[in-house]
Amino acid sequence: MKTSILSLLLPVLANGAAVQLEPRQSGMMDMLKGMTKGMATKAYKIEPLTPRNPAAKRIRMTWGPLKLRGANSTTKVGSGMSMDPGGTGHNFLVDTDFPTDVTLLDGVVEVQGMDFKRVTLDQNVYTHHYLVYDLMKPQKPSFTCANGKSISYVPIPGTVVLGGAAEDAEAHYATPTMKKTGYYVKKDTPILMNLDVVNYNPADIDVYASADIEYIPGKPEGMLDASPVFVPVSACDKGMVIPGIVMTPKGQNKFTLNSTSIIASEDSLMFMFRGHMHDGGSNIEVKINDKVACNSKAIYGGPGHVGKTHDGKSWETIGAMVTCPEGVMVKKGDKIDIQANYDLLAHPAREAGHGHGGGMLGGMLGGLLGGGDGMAEQMAVSIIYVAPLNPKA
Ligand SMILES: *[C@@H]1O[C@H](CO)[C@@H](O)[C@H](O)[C@H]1NC(C)=O
Ligand SMILES: *[C@@H]1O[C@H](CO)[C@@H](O)[C@H](O)[C@H]1NC(C)=O
Repeated sequence: MKTSILSLLLPVLANGAAVQLEPRQSGMMDMLKGMTKGMATKAYKIEPLTPRNPAAKRIRMTWGPLKLRGANSTTKVGSGMSMDPGGTGHNFLVDTDFPTDVTLLDGVVEVQGMDFKRVTLDQNVYTHHYLVYDLMKPQKPSFTCANGKSISYVPIPGTVVLGGAAEDAEAHYATPTMKKTGYYVKKDTPILMNLDVVNYNPADIDVYASADIEYIPGKPEGMLDASPVFVPVSACDKGMVIPGIVMTPKGQNKFTLNSTSIIASEDSLMFMFRGHMHDGGSNIEVKINDKVACNSKAIYGGPGHVGKTHDGKSWETIGAMVTCPEGVMVKKGDKIDIQANYDLLAHPAREAGHGHGGGMLGGMLGGLLGGGDGMAEQMAVSIIYVAPLNPKA
């Protein structure tokens, strides 16, 4: 049961084969290389942009076109799995045109239509997620559990260098204060694109995947390497938990989840705190030694974030999660508390694509995971950028 749920959760697949990936699993790289051999995809176009930092380079890379299955379509499209019964998954490795041996400062991804403009719910397209993975870098082991349990991060196959979901999310690796930080992309590291998009239009459509990235060559002297860690509220909970996925307490529309026993495992600078939830969530708060580091509120609606259900009712999705860029110096052993609050009456859960019953993960599983009938599941994850102060070589 657990294995099948995890493989559904993490649809990083090639050629339709489901695999379960553990970040530190040995041989994972070999397996991925085997799976993705010959799959490297060159960008459709690369455009220079004006960098914000004059010492940096900034480009926009665009891949595609990628086909998305229409709501009434039965064609088999995509190269990966979708977490939504009506969605389409695409996975591909980028080719050598993607810059490596660089330090990334900023980046943002978006799904675009044939006119190279972002597609949103205004076009009846819902981006479940668009993640850019660095497969060579596991998530940093900067958190641990005080209760003896080994910590469960969201089980993803590497570091999410750039990423977005329905909500707008930009990556900013350079902290304006405290320390010089950036994200070092190792030379020739394998970068995997993982898109899961729901097309609520009746017919199949084509889209492009784009990434706007700003970077400096190499790795500057004295720069601390920072990267996001996906810490679920349940990271140190005992018993059977699926990291990040929330079981809605039976019969409750308003509820709170508290983390237990999460502590820092090393001295680090933590910054860019942001919650990740699905529709139904109100906020995710992170406290470090009882002091609020970030109260990441979910902001609903706004341009591109209002859709219609299959019976014509308007629904507002999470358009943004408040992000806290400010850095906090954290010492080994510092206590980290995460609290997630939900109000499903104020913010009804999203309806799955195709007007399907049974939640995004399908049938029984969707219900079990708190999806309810035809509704998407809930999530409770805090994304925290961590730059260890004394990195191991
Ligand atoms: C598309 O599917 C919906 C139900 O999901 C149905 O009501 C509609 O008639 C279908 N349209 C076409 C053109 O098949
Ligand atoms: C969560 O923690 C807060 C204190 O931080 C406490 O007031 C609240 O009762 C806790 N709720 C649950 C459901 O554990």
